[in-house]
Amino acid sequence: MKVLLGVSGSIAAYRAADLARELMRAGHEVRVCLTDGAAQFVTPLLFETLTGQPVLSGAFEEPIAGRMAHIDWARWADVIVVAPATANTLVRLGLGFAEDMLTTVVLASSAPLVVAPAMNPSMYAADVVAFARERLAARATIVLEPQEGDVVAGEHGPGKLAPIAEIVAAVQSLDVRRNRLAGKHVLITSGPTVESIDDVRFLSNRSSGKMGAALARAALLMGARVTVVAGPQSAVLPLAATVIPVHTALEMLAAAQGATQPDVIIGAAAVADYRPLTRQEGKIRRDVGNISLQLTPNPDVIASLAATFPGAQTVAFAAEPGPDVATARAKMARKGVFAVAVNDISRSDIGFGADDNALQLLFASGGQAESGVRTKLACGIWLLEQLTP
Ligand code: CTP
Repeated sequence: MKVLLGVSGSIAAYRAADLARELMRAGHEVRVCLTDGAAQFVTPLLFETLTGQPVLSGAFEEPIAGRMAHIDWARWADVIVVAPATANTLVRLGLGFAEDMLTTVVLASSAPLVVAPAMNPSMYAADVVAFARERLAARATIVLEPQEGDVVAGEHGPGKLAPIAEIVAAVQSLDVRRNRLAGKHVLITSGPTVESIDDVRFLSNRSSGKMGAALARAALLMGARVTVVAGPQSAVLPLAATVIPVHTALEMLAAAQGATQPDVIIGAAAVADYRPLTRQEGKIRRDVGNISLQLTPNPDVIASLAATFPGAQTVAFAAEPGPDVATARAKMARKGVFAVAVNDISRSDIGFGADDNALQLLFASGGQAESGVRTKLACGIWLLEQLTP
């Protein structure tokens, strides 16, 4: 893999030289980016000599004239490792600052991040550092907890850089994950559908599309080709996915059935079960008195896709108001899918609009697995890993 190693200004910066060498030994290509603080402890020349590659530091450096290095390097990296990460760098990464080369590259990149903090234990315990770590978790960052031990200034506590072997192992695990879905096509339905009543009004639902977007990112991180058939959703879909925008359930079904043979199909969309039987031309006026809206059932998109692509592993989502496994199992049988991911919509910390989710995955073959509460992105990676053990 192409590993971008970001080094920030901790006393542990000298250990980044060993890390660079071990990563190269493991077969990875390594480029190094130093913060100004790191350059106080170690020199660019050290890493240039070690890696045989240019080293970046200042926000406006351009080793190749006319090419913006931060974009170039962000695209180049398969993974970004920040080790050691000081409190300052950790917080800047978590909050999305971009005022030096390292933070700018991280912000511009969609590569997975591995962060190995090293700092004074009191700084590690600070609220804002914990907040930044939570924010980083939402973008699939692996945070390697600092080791407990004696740190400078005579203190003892968690603050020492994780062992080099552990950091290298984290990179290796991402390499395995990255290849897990290589050559596979993942088809995802996402977001709400909207069903027109007249030219102005429609029936829809509260789906934000966050779970669909997270699944798309997860599948891309795992090396898959990704197609998302998406209703008008607020969550932003990754640029690397092929997105087919639709409005109605019928459009969603037609677009998904027209996709090239998928290996995995995931129904994350909140498809309207009913649509108005007729769509009124123009605008229904208020002077018509009582009106009744006649609804007709929409096709079950995910069940139809399971039938259209019998070779694919098709996963339906089941939004259940409570931990009801029997209803979800019946739903799975009715839809003829490979598995169903149950999420409990009675909980406010997970589900619609939330950043976290907790899935219970039931397989038609009888097995089941639970993700526990994680970010939607981590849930997506977890779900895809369950399908390809
Ligand atoms: N789904 C679909 N097409 C529909 C309705 C639902 O593809 N017309 C898919 C959703 O994308 C999701 C799964 O079916 O993957 C479950 O949706 P859910 O609303 O929980 O179940 P329903 O089949 O609508 O059953 P019910 O409303 O009775 O719970």
